[in-house]
Amino acid sequence: TLPKVYVTRKVPPDGLDILRESGQVQFEMWDSDEPVPRVELLKKVKGCDGILCVLTEKIDAQLLEAAGPNLKVVSTMSVGFDHLSLDDLKKRGIRVGYTPDVLTDCVAELTVALLLATSRRLIEATHEAKTGGWGTWRTSWLCGHELANSTVGILGLGRIGVAIAERLKPFKVKKFIYTDVEQRPELANMIEAEYVSFDDMAKQSDFLAVCCALTPETHGICNWNLFSKMKKNAIFINTSRGGVVNQEDLYEALSTGLIAGAGLDVTTPEPLPTHHPLFTLKNCAILPHIASASYTTRNAMSALAANNLLAGLRGEPMPKELKL
Ligand code: GLV
Ligand code: GLV
Repeated sequence: TLPKVYVTRKVPPDGLDILRESGQVQFEMWDSDEPVPRVELLKKVKGCDGILCVLTEKIDAQLLEAAGPNLKVVSTMSVGFDHLSLDDLKKRGIRVGYTPDVLTDCVAELTVALLLATSRRLIEATHEAKTGGWGTWRTSWLCGHELANSTVGILGLGRIGVAIAERLKPFKVKKFIYTDVEQRPELANMIEAEYVSFDDMAKQSDFLAVCCALTPETHGICNWNLFSKMKKNAIFINTSRGGVVNQEDLYEALSTGLIAGAGLDVTTPEPLPTHHPLFTLKNCAILPHIASASYTTRNAMSALAANNLLAGLRGEPMPKELKL
């Protein structure tokens, strides 16, 4: 009999076609745009050889236990992997696929859009225009900060950070700086970025883009220690994971004018409750985790996730395997 696979969400068509046409697996899918309830998920994975999941599903010891000894592969339709308990997966010898590269352009594009929307106050501005705030043309009304001659800091230089810098360069950015646990000169050279300490990045950046993975090491690193060293004109942008930010500290920094603005595509929790204090701030632009949301990219992610899963089940190298 064919390996059994559970797909935890209705995924875009390319990935589904690959699974279906492979003839290699029998799969069942949670055919909805809403997450599968946990209790249901724990039942559905029982006896599965593979799981194709999205980032709302916690793949932890409890789930692996529920799945049982047949489980060989977990393939997530995401580049982020903070929802996967890597230690538990490793302990059980389960291989993990993820979807880097195919979303890099899309995420970089959205990050630039969010950066400009935040620094030039676009969301505030359209709100003013349609709610009667546009009394006349005024000399300093809705003034923001420009990229020309600025220093852009990148926290966590990977594929996405490089792609962001490549897109920002034509805006006449003066200097790119970055910090990371590794210096990664081959990536830094592509964008002529200078490696600096965490503190120097905080002090020098006019724009700071967070592009690191959420791991135990990066959890909460954007906190008072960072914001208090930043420039008053600085714009903070996060398209990685909400968990890298201490949101109380960010709120304090934004509401007291310690920094000029923040653009967030990710928050803790998600969705961020509509009554959350961050929503009351004009200088905080919040998007509902849409950085990879283009039709092309979401299809490519689902296809890659399907191909990772099938390769893993065949015992072959995956197109994109996470090293555990
Ligand atoms: C999206 O956040 C992803 O991890 O792919
Ligand atoms: C702005 O519209 C200007 O004419 O300077």
